[in-house]
Amino acid sequence: MDIKQVAVIGGGTMGNGICHVFAMNGIPVNLVEMEQELADKAVETIDKNLERMVNKEKIDAEQKVQTLENITTFTNTIEAVKDADLVIEAVPENFEIKKQVFADVDKAAPEDSILATNTSSISITKLAATTSRPEQVVGMHFFNPVPVMKLVEVVRGLDTSDDVVETVDETARLLNKNPVEVADYPGFVSNRVLMPMINEAICCVHEGVADPEDIDDVMKLGMAHPMGPLRLADFIGLDVCLDILNVLHEGFKDPKYRPSPLLVKMVDAGKLGDKTGEGFYEH
Ligand code: CAA
Repeated sequence: MDIKQVAVIGGGTMGNGICHVFAMNGIPVNLVEMEQELADKAVETIDKNLERMVNKEKIDAEQKVQTLENITTFTNTIEAVKDADLVIEAVPENFEIKKQVFADVDKAAPEDSILATNTSSISITKLAATTSRPEQVVGMHFFNPVPVMKLVEVVRGLDTSDDVVETVDETARLLNKNPVEVADYPGFVSNRVLMPMINEAICCVHEGVADPEDIDDVMKLGMAHPMGPLRLADFIGLDVCLDILNVLHEGFKDPKYRPSPLLVKMVDAGKLGDKTGEGFYEH
């Protein structure tokens, strides 16, 4: 199946990044936000990130114009998905919100279209079961910043069909990304491996083993990570890290995923990282 029209629900950090890469690779994309002001803000962010690419000579000014022309904004999901071959949901990580979005999309999108979710922690199988087409539901997990990171984690729910996985793999390659297929278990692979490392770094701060800068230097200089785990935790959002650790902890019932009490305390204090201006660092 060729993907000729995409709809992305949600224009936040991940949603606008996903729109950016589809539009830049010549695939028209409908961007849905709850209010026009939010949709305009998402397009402004895409514009800014495209300008950064023009300045770095990764694309030229004409490609920037064409990319923006490939994006149409909507505030009505039903309208936005009616001709979409692929719908990607990138709304907040809350099962009830995602379930409602999937209900609207399931009703309005063409029968054969693929319903993908960018979730980093919610079960694809559980979301799929709320729709009339579980075999067409799949995880398409992008990484922040989407225009830069090469991975798309393609998550196969219990009923996801081989055709759907193949189409999503091919689509990811069209975006110059590398798809990696994984099964639907808590945290998939990315967060099952990443979050325990971040949690352990937080435990080191909590126990006074070293301060955040030194822990990050160990991982940057010793293991060639582009960002240390604590800087990365701030970048991802400490609330998001805590939510994912809770999903791992509850999903596997294994104490090795127990969130650090310091992480819980920081989230309780509203110190969520970059988005609130304070986390392990001041931003
Ligand atoms: N759009 C377009 N280009 C961007 C961009 C954006 N939003 N953000 C950065 N870039 C480009 C820059 O223009 C720059 O390009 P050049 O290589 O041509 O110079 C390049 O990316 C590097 O950016 P900077 O020079 O500004 O900064 P940096 O070298 O410190 O890199 C970084 C920034 C790319 C974010 C890097 O630190 C990095 O890779 N960090 C790790 C990010 C990571 O692990 N992300 C995954 C998080 S987990 C997740 O998303 C999923 C989940 O489920 C929680």
